Amino acid sequence: MNTPLFRKLNLEAYKPGRSFLNKKKSIIKLSANESALGMSKNANKAIIKSKNNVSKYPDGKFKELTSTISKKYDCKQNQIICGSGSDEIIQMLCQLFLSKGDEVVVPEYSFLMYRIYAKIVGANVIFSKEKNFKVSNDEIIKKTTKRTKIVFIANPNNPTGTYISKNQLLDLRKRLNKKILLVVDDAYFEYMLNKDYRSGLELFKNKNNVFILRTFSKIYGLASLRVGWGYGSKKIVDALYKIKPPFNVNKIAQECAVESLKDKSFIKKSVKHNLDWAKKIKKVMNSYNIQTNEIGPNFFLLDFKSCKLTASFVEKNLEKSGIILREMNSYGIKNCLRLTIGNVRENILFIKQMKKIFKNV
Ligand SMILES: Cc1ncc(COP(=O)(O)O)c(C=O)c1O
Repeated sequence: MNTPLFRKLNLEAYKPGRSFLNKKKSIIKLSANESALGMSKNANKAIIKSKNNVSKYPDGKFKELTSTISKKYDCKQNQIICGSGSDEIIQMLCQLFLSKGDEVVVPEYSFLMYRIYAKIVGANVIFSKEKNFKVSNDEIIKKTTKRTKIVFIANPNNPTGTYISKNQLLDLRKRLNKKILLVVDDAYFEYMLNKDYRSGLELFKNKNNVFILRTFSKIYGLASLRVGWGYGSKKIVDALYKIKPPFNVNKIAQECAVESLKDKSFIKKSVKHNLDWAKKIKKVMNSYNIQTNEIGPNFFLLDFKSCKLTASFVEKNLEKSGIILREMNSYGIKNCLRLTIGNVRENILFIKQMKKIFKNV
């Protein structure tokens, strides 16, 4: 029997950081930039409270969640939209803004979902060159044309771990044609203590041509509940509400997100944990001539170009002891691995295993 015809899709499906290894029961997953400390106790309580109460549809307007967000970040409730992960908001933005033949500019090593969703709706993805794995404003501007509809950047960027300064981000918006939507993805902003860094939301709350993405999947540790949010002009947000699935964020996710936002001490603890371990890990990596990005987000891009071992050799040897890092081939980055900063036990085991690998060669 013939299969009904569908569109030809010229794209590769997203390959997430692996969670399993053949035959290995106990693994240490440092491949998906998830929270090292899990989630807030508040979120845990919210799960227990609402787990027997799921027979009704969730609030498709996210009243409580958007109200909590607007108070916490001093922004307008009617300019917030929530998604099943910020991922879904990327998808909705692509559906709303892009038609066949439109162009989207993304830095060459940016988060893969920008290009995937843009291609699905028929847009052409244009890559801007980076300098030392860092977003370049000049290169982005060079690539924009009359057909450019969206420029996506994550700051800090995944997978490179680099960030652009407040001044560079302001400069990028200033130089972009105002008809282009600049999407600033703040997925890892909570971790950033760097003095010259500012989140997209902080800088562009009132700008009609900037759209901000936020997520509960990283520092808040709610990755598997799938909840994120976006902030932009009321016109854009109203249009996004028209195209979004009616009940896209489940009730437990919304309630956990609300409770998580109230737990400041969990975030403080997570940021401190991240900084302390980032310093230790960077030092160890540098001692093996593995280069990394500056300390900032909860992950490092490990660059093996000056190291006596290759990324794939180290990756395979870590896997023998159940430790999974993110390979970078799907991003087109050679001889590198991405390492998520884990919890105390995971970090100690990772460092111990690295020592073993380097001692035995
Ligand atoms: C830069 C960036 N944006 C967005 C996402 C998607 O996050 P979510 O789980 O909210 O869909 C990720 C996940 O890795 C990311 O790294």
